[in-house]
Amino acid sequence: MSYLFILLAGYILGSLPSGLIIGKLFFNTDLREYGSHNIGATNAWRVLGKKAGFSVFILDFFKGAAGVFIGMYAGANGMEPASAYALLLGGIMAIIGHSCSLFLFFKGGKGVATGLGVITMLMPQAALCVFLLWFIVVLFTRYVSLASMIAAVSVPLQAYYWNKPWQYIIFGILAAAFVVYRHRENIHRLVNGDESKINLNGR
Ligand code: G3P
Repeated sequence: MSYLFILLAGYILGSLPSGLIIGKLFFNTDLREYGSHNIGATNAWRVLGKKAGFSVFILDFFKGAAGVFIGMYAGANGMEPASAYALLLGGIMAIIGHSCSLFLFFKGGKGVATGLGVITMLMPQAALCVFLLWFIVVLFTRYVSLASMIAAVSVPLQAYYWNKPWQYIIFGILAAAFVVYRHRENIHRLVNGDESKINLNGR
């Protein structure tokens, strides 16, 4: 029962389309019609400005963190803490909800900020290194998509380096593959040289 609850609650929570809500509510803009057409923080930053981008990042990040939190509490049994599976289930469902949203006909974002929220809860030291790597690549290249893919691929390596349970390493491999797959249009644009660079000062 608790696993079913974690699965559903994580998915519904992850499905809440923060970028779309902020865009429509405060800017009367549907992010799906502008820029990269993505509902994530990067496109919110690109289309709506840095405050919107930062807000979407925080909200998407907390969806991932809250997914793990759901697993942690709903999976606990009295004094016995939740298993790694319960935590992972909550986090994975939040990422799936974000990318295949119940409210967007199973479409959605690329899972980067939500994934960072998940790994921050599961392995904070690794998450900090992943974030720093992402930040450095963005600073040097201005390609957020490239930074996101490199950071995602580093997750299983970080999990291994920090001696995390093997389930976290497997999760890292699957999450990295998922994030790269979700960036397939960005990869085409990067290869063709027409991927847009982020303006760090906002729009
Ligand atoms: O997190 C998404 C980012 O890596 C790329 O976003 O809008 O450039 O496709 P975007």
